[in-house]
Amino acid sequence: MDTKNNVGLELNVVNPVIAKLNDILANYQVFYTNLRGFHWNIQGDKFLELHELYEEYYNELAEKIDEVAERIVMLGEVPANSFSEYLKSAKVAEVSRVFDWRIGASNVVETLQFLLSELRELYRLAVKAGDQASISLAVHGVRSFEKKVWVLSAYLKE
Ligand SMILES: [Fe+2]
Repeated sequence: MDTKNNVGLELNVVNPVIAKLNDILANYQVFYTNLRGFHWNIQGDKFLELHELYEEYYNELAEKIDEVAERIVMLGEVPANSFSEYLKSAKVAEVSRVFDWRIGASNVVETLQFLLSELRELYRLAVKAGDQASISLAVHGVRSFEKKVWVLSAYLKE
């Protein structure tokens, strides 16, 4: 029996990578939708800058979502593409009707911190599987999200 997938990775060690990528995909999709809500609904003197910042964030996240889903396909699985499936596995909670910019920005920081832990777990699993492309995906995600945590945390300081 074949023990390797199409791209030459051992199935038994790559399966945990695929499972983690699926978790990350679900969490990214919920986060994407939350970011759109913050972009639309926050009010007050920070509106203009955060409205633009969140647009940047969700556009970048849309690319990351695609990258994660396509990695799942390349590893031999079928990525979920419905919200009913995402909500079953996502740990990021849906957030609606947030008008206070501080509540919105704090939620974004907390979500990014959680996603960083997920990406670090992906990194560990991908190293074990010898899966360089997933390692790279994890590293790029960590770099991007750590910068956002820094920027927004500084912004939230009184
Ligand atoms: Fe817009």
